[in-house]
Amino acid sequence: MSEEDGASTGRYVVVKALEDGVVIMGLTRGKDTRSHHSERLDAGEVMVAQFTELTAAIKIRGRAEILTDVGRVESGS
Ligand code: TRP
Repeated sequence: MSEEDGASTGRYVVVKALEDGVVIMGLTRGKDTRSHHSERLDAGEVMVAQFTELTAAIKIRGRAEILTDVGRVESGS
C-alpha cells in the first residue's frame, strides 16, 4: 500500500496515560492545523499510534508518558 492510500510511514508514538481523562488530539497535515480526532485515555491505558498523511502532529492534554523516536517526555507534570 502506498502512503497515498493511507498507509503510515512507520514512525510510532506511544502514549501512556498517568491519570484519568488524558486527551490525545490528532492534528491535520498541511496549511491548516485542525484537530480531526481525539481519544480519551484513563490511567494506565496505552495508545500506540503512527503519523500518517492526514496526521502531522498530536497534542496531549493531561499527565502522560510519551515515547517517540526522539526520546521520552512527560506531559502535564
Ligand atoms: N498543519 C501543520 C503542518 O502540516 C501541523 C503541524 C506539524 C504542526 N507540526 C506542527 C502544528 C508543529 C504546530 C506545531 O505543518
